[in-house]
Amino acid sequence: MNKKIVMMTAVAALSVAAFGTVASAEEKSVIGVAMPTQDLQRWNQDGENMKAQLEEKGYTVDLQYAGNDVQTQVSQVENMIANGDQLLVIASIEGDSLGTVLAQAKEAGIPVIAYDRLIMNTDAVSYYATFDNYMIGKTQGQFIVDTLDLENQDGPFNLELITGDPGDNNVNFFFGGAMDVLQPYIDAGKLVVPSGQMTKDEVATVNWATDAAQARFENILSSNYADGTNLDAVLASNDSTALGVINALAANYTGEYPIITGQDCDIANVPHIVDGTQAMSVFKDTRALAAKVVEMVDAVMQGNEVPVNDTESYDNGTGVIPSYNCDPTPVTAENYKEMLIDSGYYTEDQIQ
Ligand code: BGC
Repeated sequence: MNKKIVMMTAVAALSVAAFGTVASAEEKSVIGVAMPTQDLQRWNQDGENMKAQLEEKGYTVDLQYAGNDVQTQVSQVENMIANGDQLLVIASIEGDSLGTVLAQAKEAGIPVIAYDRLIMNTDAVSYYATFDNYMIGKTQGQFIVDTLDLENQDGPFNLELITGDPGDNNVNFFFGGAMDVLQPYIDAGKLVVPSGQMTKDEVATVNWATDAAQARFENILSSNYADGTNLDAVLASNDSTALGVINALAANYTGEYPIITGQDCDIANVPHIVDGTQAMSVFKDTRALAAKVVEMVDAVMQGNEVPVNDTESYDNGTGVIPSYNCDPTPVTAENYKEMLIDSGYYTEDQIQ
């Protein structure tokens, strides 16, 4: 080979190498993010936070909301798999309904991270990221115990219960955690539930819907409290159900105002936390959860060790799923400013 040809070959090889590098930098990995609904504030924040943070790391994000419709979510996940998304992050609507579609993901070698809600009875889930859900339930129950001073007071105090969607695995932890704290006081007769509705199925709320919560409490109030009986406390597992209770009380109750718990610190609930018509909520900083999931996604994609801090709590029916639990924080009128405004989560204007 003469010198000139050798030079040309070298240049060609160089430019192929350069082109190859440029092309792979531009071929960004696509991460599918399936969220349950845009109806509730938190999922919009979860989705947007994750999208922004993943894009910052150079990923392309295929973000879908399913309008709380299980079939829509199944189709969205099917499309993500068909489109060649390389990893799926899924906040399920119903924990038990994704097994078939996720078998396809597994077959295609696509890792799945369950987001906030565990996906049940499928071995296709690699990791789970959430808040400490059992702790959230216990915190709500303990708040009622402490505020009524049940250690020292005999009562009996009247309590009513409301939790979320029966297909959401988190409900078992929220309601279970709260009842682990409250049940001994019910057994001791210090707490009484006048409606008699105490099992998970009796106190569940389909889709966590405010309207359904309100309708159920309107019935409870007219059947058990219309004669002037006081309602002392309501265990509500989250803010959308707490709001239904608050609405029902506003129109149908004149007794002493009850302690009401909640979770999420939704914008709609913050004024109630400030004026005491909702005694507490549990703040789950969706920025922290999104940031953790982005770290997990990146570690999986790069073949690095994935951060987890809980390898015991979350068995999805096929075994324990390695999980990361973020910390929840109770919020009341006392600390809402620090937790929600000073932290930059909301602006003052948003919560007026
Ligand atoms: C989440 C809560 C939320 C509820 C309703 C649960 O799975 O953990 O934060 O309030 O769903 O969307």
